[in-house]
Amino acid sequence: CGIVGYLGERDAVPVLMQGLKQLEYRGYDSSGIGIVHRKKVKVIKEKGKLAMLEKQLTDNLTAKIGIAHTRWATHGGVTQENAHPHTGPKEEVIVVHNGIIDNYAGLKEKLIAEGNVFKSETDSEVVAHLVEKYLDLGPEQAVSKAISMINGTYGLLFLFRDHPDLIIAARNGSPLVIGIGKDEMFLASDAMAFAGYTQHAVFVDDGEMVILNPKGYRIINSQNLEIDRDVEQLEVASENHTKEGYPHYLLKEIHEQPESVFRAMGRGGRLLPDFGSALLAGLNLEKRDFFDIKKIHIIAMGTAYYAGELGKFIIEDLARIPVEVSDASEMCGMNPIVDKDTLFVAVSQSGETRDTIAAIQEIQQKGGRVVGLVNTVGSTLARMTDGGVYIHAGSEISVASTKAFSNQVTVLILMALMIGRSRDISLSRGRELVAELKALPGKIQDILDRGSELRNMAEKLKDYQSILYLGRGINYPVALEAALKMKEVSYIHAEAYSAGSLKHGPLALISEEMPSVFICTSGDYQEKTISNIQEVKARGGKVFVISNYKDSNLENLADEIFIVPGSDEAISPLLTIVPCQLLGYYTALALGRDIDQPRNLAKSVTVE
Ligand code: G6P
Repeated sequence: CGIVGYLGERDAVPVLMQGLKQLEYRGYDSSGIGIVHRKKVKVIKEKGKLAMLEKQLTDNLTAKIGIAHTRWATHGGVTQENAHPHTGPKEEVIVVHNGIIDNYAGLKEKLIAEGNVFKSETDSEVVAHLVEKYLDLGPEQAVSKAISMINGTYGLLFLFRDHPDLIIAARNGSPLVIGIGKDEMFLASDAMAFAGYTQHAVFVDDGEMVILNPKGYRIINSQNLEIDRDVEQLEVASENHTKEGYPHYLLKEIHEQPESVFRAMGRGGRLLPDFGSALLAGLNLEKRDFFDIKKIHIIAMGTAYYAGELGKFIIEDLARIPVEVSDASEMCGMNPIVDKDTLFVAVSQSGETRDTIAAIQEIQQKGGRVVGLVNTVGSTLARMTDGGVYIHAGSEISVASTKAFSNQVTVLILMALMIGRSRDISLSRGRELVAELKALPGKIQDILDRGSELRNMAEKLKDYQSILYLGRGINYPVALEAALKMKEVSYIHAEAYSAGSLKHGPLALISEEMPSVFICTSGDYQEKTISNIQEVKARGGKVFVISNYKDSNLENLADEIFIVPGSDEAISPLLTIVPCQLLGYYTALALGRDIDQPRNLAKSVTVE
């Protein structure tokens, strides 16, 4: 969820709406605004996209103070009642919340026993009730008391009916940043929400409370001590996104990939052609450090996780260092093994994924060395890691990630090359790889220019209930990401398996109703993958192939085939994934789906 608060001389509602627009990537199933004006509380909330809330806003909604929220539902269905803000029973307190209150059920039971009536099914409403219950102590003490009673993660903003120039905030595990303007103050889960108004920001840490009034702010830690923290000058600018003539951001971002992978290579600046190597200065690694790294452990979620799976193949192959890839959500609550010889790599587009942040916190707690591959400049992960490189994909608006994936993989290849050149890779092989990387944008463009072939293929896939994606070796993570793209945007059930594991169970699914998309590239896995295609054909399954070589045998076997330009194996995923992205896009288009904001999803999930 995204939260934003404003206090100052401007009309609060348009400022809050502008903030919510910048935060919509954190959830878009419902949204709401709460204001205090002339000692009256007013809450407007609506389910659906932000446009639905906008329709409810009337001109007479004037206020100089307000808080707002855009929701990605956790506790309680997507209804108007469950949308934020929530109020206490006497409507003296308004709250917006990002996070999850773990012990809300017990607290709610007690409050109900005391005669409180709840309007929603959310965990968040409990906090409004608690603060109101203790309001006789004064707003600051009431919030302090309430948060001492709750467990879980939260970024909370409170407004008070009888204190029209006060916002109180509290943070534990959900990001919170103060924006300092001239005679006006902002609070938000992401500085992007107020970037159009001020670049001066103070980041709030876990366990801290913020007391904000028009004259300034105070930060208080859990020991009740006032904290003096430096004001940071941010580089983020609020962005006015446009589709630049494309019908959807997803298609635009797929088409941006020739340019965006070039940016991942630092426009050539991260490549060292003479040395057949690459340079990622931000990792803060000296050549000598490469001898000490015995293992790399990549931590990520979703698409970034599949980029990590590709990184494993490429780094192990080129740098000969064992790589483990972990689903960050699985690490939380586990007891990860952390040693001085392992380099941990957090991969994240947003830099705000709660699962990834929580896993990294645990690793840092144990003294682990963590670097980040992050897209969003100044994000939580970018700030908490010991070093890192930005992937420079530019802002990605579509919920389904495409160019960020390609840039993550590109940077992982650069990392493999950089470390590999200090270990196993020869100068000539290094130079070959640099040349391959330079040629990559042009090859991606070739694929994009043939988009209509994939549109035709999508027409043949769109009516199936289920699709299998299969590949061996480096093509297996491509199949995983390709299946994710298909299910995210088209809602067709798409599942990936290693082609070798097909005969160990999934083959039972093959019939005329279950097509398979094979990623079959030239090299070590080629012949065995063709055997797997034959196994599917023999059982009446339709076969769609994404390949990178021309071969009459393969062409005869495939019902449909799309051939991408040939390349070194390490680079091939950046080519084979592109037709799969387009296949997902055109299938979703044919089915009339909400392509840029698919149902139930959020671009950045800030709860565990
Ligand atoms: C969400 C998004 C995915 C994304 C994942 C990780 O699930 O819907 O598209 O891959 O989070 O996000 P991150 O920002 O950490 O890369």
